[in-house]
Amino acid sequence: MSAERRRTPARGWVLAASLALCATAFAQPASGAEPTPAPPAGDGLALTPPMGFNNWNTTHCEADFNETLVRDIADIFVSHGLKEAGYTYVNLDDCWALPERAPNGDLVPDPVRFPHGIKAVADYVHSKGLKFGIYSSAGTKTCNEAGFPGALGHEQQDANLFASWGVDYLKYDNCNNQGVNAIERYTKMRDALRATGRPIVFSICEWGTNQPWEWGKGVGHLWRTTIDINDSWASMLSILKLNMVRADHAGPGHWNDPDMLEVGNGGMTATEYRSHFSLWSMMAAPLLIGADLRKVTPETFEILGNRDVIAVDQDPLGVQGRPIRSAGGLHVFVKPLAGGDRAVALFNENDTPARIETNAAELGLPQASGYQLRDLWAHTDAHTAGTISAMVPAHGTAMYRIGADRHWFQYPPALDAAAEVELSYASALPVVAPGTPAAYTTTLGNSGGAPVNSVRAKLLTPPTWSVRATSDPTTTTLRENERFRTTWEVSAPPGTPPGRYPVSASFDYVNPQTGAPATLTHTSEAVVPEVPQTGTRYLSDVPWLRSYNGWGPVEIDRANGGRLAGDGGPLTLRGVTYAKGLGTHALSSVEYFTGGACSEVRALVGVDDGRAGSVTFEVWTDGERAYDSGPLTRTDPAKELVADISGAKAVRLVATDAGDGVQNDHADWAELTLTC
Ligand code: GLA
Repeated sequence: MSAERRRTPARGWVLAASLALCATAFAQPASGAEPTPAPPAGDGLALTPPMGFNNWNTTHCEADFNETLVRDIADIFVSHGLKEAGYTYVNLDDCWALPERAPNGDLVPDPVRFPHGIKAVADYVHSKGLKFGIYSSAGTKTCNEAGFPGALGHEQQDANLFASWGVDYLKYDNCNNQGVNAIERYTKMRDALRATGRPIVFSICEWGTNQPWEWGKGVGHLWRTTIDINDSWASMLSILKLNMVRADHAGPGHWNDPDMLEVGNGGMTATEYRSHFSLWSMMAAPLLIGADLRKVTPETFEILGNRDVIAVDQDPLGVQGRPIRSAGGLHVFVKPLAGGDRAVALFNENDTPARIETNAAELGLPQASGYQLRDLWAHTDAHTAGTISAMVPAHGTAMYRIGADRHWFQYPPALDAAAEVELSYASALPVVAPGTPAAYTTTLGNSGGAPVNSVRAKLLTPPTWSVRATSDPTTTTLRENERFRTTWEVSAPPGTPPGRYPVSASFDYVNPQTGAPATLTHTSEAVVPEVPQTGTRYLSDVPWLRSYNGWGPVEIDRANGGRLAGDGGPLTLRGVTYAKGLGTHALSSVEYFTGGACSEVRALVGVDDGRAGSVTFEVWTDGERAYDSGPLTRTDPAKELVADISGAKAVRLVATDAGDGVQNDHADWAELTLTC
């Protein structure tokens, strides 16, 4: 439990325990003989994952990477409580130096970015009680194409210079390494840093290329396990999956590094950033903020400053959490903590909300009559008889700290609330079509060891919508391990603009311990689609419900090119170009709302001219495959696709790799029309 949770009179803990002492407080056993932190490993540096800032994810080598940024970040760390929350290192990335060394061989700070030199900024950072980090490469040049000097062959001279400036952290990249063995190059810099006599955290950045988890312990304090992250959901998810399988290799003083945080940079939703931060913390990842904190929203500070979650990352036992169950995009992560508690993350990578459950036995907790359960995002405490259950939003993460505790009955029962719309097929989006009644169910589940009383359910929608309960919204008692369901009819008025709208289940009940009235609310999202128009239209003129694409975005009225939107040529099949249609790349799926009112999809499909891939084109009506082109290559003529979609609520256009991998699978849907 967090320090706050443990401040129970029964334990006689001091109320004033500062949050900065979280880590120490957690070391108190919750349930008898439990693991305690390992004795300091190695040189005693980075005994918990490093926390701080690095400019790369926000500035790259742009002009706003300069002395002012570094000083401002140090100031913000202090003024916004981030220093107190544990963020310590303020680190520079690539592009801080001039392309040429000085006549004596020393690196030279760029006088435009750092007019007062590096030592001056390091001194400033130190004056705030923070630590300072710098960047170089274990090669002849760094990674930027401008070609800044790397440290290969200059290890001791550069390490000495860094130490003389007061550097506390070195990120050491892998570009232009001249094929020299990685272990040799990184060990050489480790030895050079040691020889300076200054304690310097050593961050190995060779992107997982030479399996650094096998040899990095004792060479560096952390090592990147993957290629660079970028500010997108897909990148974050793929890096999570590469890093989560390396849990065995992490521990105090030697951490897996799934790359720096993107929280606050704008390319993901707040829900996705909370998942990013939760999952990095579960994996005991370094928490290096990668956003320009001068420009971020209060919500970004709320995420980055979540001390309950930070305490999981910084737990002194130093175990990297791992998935104990992953199926169909729903994951249960567990991280054992000092003192015997467990951190738990329920992560939903899918586009639709889903219930995820686990229990004390699966988490490896001892048998007990009750457990304390802290919700690390809501910052509320409850007790459970053993079950943890939550309706987790699309791309969301619910995160808890759970521990056996004989004082569990002091906390109210753990309740989970949900509002779910009836879906047209298993993984459909939660659609509410304007003018068509939608069937909702609200649920209140009780995982506690005591009943709750006088329950009343409400369903809250935008004010212009109509809501009617179609079953009794009240119950006198909700017992342990019971669920209370109410069904509802909900209508959004005709003309409701397409978009995402909040729909909440709200339950009034009486707290069994105190007799006081209480309310629990869970908000989900309803997707209001554009209503299909009568007649035949080009689908490339209709907004889709959702899409994903194997390479760059789905292109409208042009072929798929590369990573960027609009970078493809015209849709071209066997020498004929088409003005209308979609350019996709396997594996891809583009979904449209048809509301049961449409009859046919037509197109000319094929692999775009000049591309060597092979693709299968499919049309899905709700959960069923209604059309399959069979494998097509660029030598096949454009194929006429006609799919009967009568009655379907949603239609999905899918391009598969035809079973031979996705290389060059540029899939054109020319002259693509929908008839309703
Ligand atoms: C590599 C690293 C990045 C960043 C850039 C700088 O790509 O992996 O994290 O440091 O170099 O050029």
